[in-house]
Amino acid sequence: MARNTRHFVCQECGSSFPKWAGRCESCGAWNTLVEEAPMESAPKGLGAKRGRKLEFVGLKGESARPPREASGIAEFDRVCGGGLVPGSAILVGGDPGIGKSTVLLQVAAALSKSVGCAYISGEESIDQLRLRAARLGLAEAPVQLAAANSVRDIASTLDGPECPGFVVIDSVQTMFVDSIDSAPGTVSQVRTSAQELIRLAKRRGFTLALVGHVTKEGLIAGPRVMEHMVDTVLYFEGERGHQFRILRAVKNRFGPSDEIGVFEMTDGGLTEVANPSALFLADRNGDVSGASVFAGMEGSRPVLVEIQSLIAPSALGTPRRAVVGWDNGRLAMLLAVLEARCGVAFGGADVYLNVAGGLRIQEPAADLAVAAALVSAVSGVPVPAETVVFGEVGLAGEVRPVAHMETRLKEAWKLGFTRAILPADRGKGSKRRSLAAPDKGMTLNRIEHVDEIVQLFGPGRTTARNEPGAFERARHG
Ligand code: TYD
Ligand code: MG
Repeated sequence: MARNTRHFVCQECGSSFPKWAGRCESCGAWNTLVEEAPMESAPKGLGAKRGRKLEFVGLKGESARPPREASGIAEFDRVCGGGLVPGSAILVGGDPGIGKSTVLLQVAAALSKSVGCAYISGEESIDQLRLRAARLGLAEAPVQLAAANSVRDIASTLDGPECPGFVVIDSVQTMFVDSIDSAPGTVSQVRTSAQELIRLAKRRGFTLALVGHVTKEGLIAGPRVMEHMVDTVLYFEGERGHQFRILRAVKNRFGPSDEIGVFEMTDGGLTEVANPSALFLADRNGDVSGASVFAGMEGSRPVLVEIQSLIAPSALGTPRRAVVGWDNGRLAMLLAVLEARCGVAFGGADVYLNVAGGLRIQEPAADLAVAAALVSAVSGVPVPAETVVFGEVGLAGEVRPVAHMETRLKEAWKLGFTRAILPADRGKGSKRRSLAAPDKGMTLNRIEHVDEIVQLFGPGRTTARNEPGAFERARHG
């Protein structure tokens, strides 16, 4: 029977289909299915040959903690969970031009003082790499450079006892395995190349850093098709117009995920930003309406950012809701809560929301800060400049406690904030969590309902709330 040899693979998520379609059924991306040569033959099953017996061991035991190799670039080491683990594979993803090659060259140069480092580029020529190294002031570092595309050549070179301890492959989308017919950058090439290189790294015990471009057009396979194969996935993000670059760990088998490292892109490459809050708040000017400072957490680190909003009369039938750095759906929810529970009307107005500095916030704890910015934008009453805000808002308008409240307050106090608006204790009598203010000087304004934000910064008196909790609150207060 003739096998169906046509085979379409989504370049976004890697799912494969026998028929072409405009939209990938698996991940919903449009226009990402591309015909690829079928994978080798189907798996044949085990047959009669017997394998080696496995030896089971207990969970507890003498396993040496993976010795880590710290690069000395603190922001990078933190994101990796304290340093690079030998034999592990790291995927560094990000938009083209964001600074992946730059950061990895800097890391390789820093590491080369203690371990052998190799930088293999399939994108740039040796001259270009040297030019960049000279520009970064790293020309003296003992990093081995090579320009190559063939995984076979790379594997033969590295497969020996004298292999380097840290190998950068820039980028995996330019690599190819000659036994596969598809072009470099297709899902099958990217997967196989990554697999071969990762297997080699595990066998020889070197740390492998793979660069993967995030692509919008779906012409080449994105880093997502490799995420499950590697030990650590780092994404390099940042807004084009901003100097800040954020390296975010989204997966880490050897450390915490959600950690971020903050860098600034300068003429001399990426420099570390040890205190991101100070940087994100640097351009703030006094009391302006429509802005509030959110005391957020990025991994284990508190980060303060300004949230700005603008409400403008709309000329459109359907007003605009434009968000930079936050979730669109979350904004819609918050607007609905403010309208329905507190009577603040946004109906015919365009709403713009921006997280200053190019940071992308994912925490729900930002709800209350966003609400403060929105309410203040409507009323023109500024949120006092020395105030930080955090808390999650529920659909009934209730303000819910969030994690790490003390860490957030401490950071705010350190940066000169003297007042905080935060969720009230919701302990039901039994175990009320007491929260120490970082210093006597800090005023804590604990609130239970988002309506209290409206009373503080909103446009005059609001309509009566229509949710059942209102009575309860009246009795308390
Ligand atoms: P690059 O590391 O080549 O990005 P990627 O590998 O992710 O595609 O970074 C390229 C950008 O960084 C480019 O727009 C110029 C900028 N850049 C600087 O601003 N300063 C520098 O010292 C370097 C090396 C690059
Ligand atoms: Mg590059």
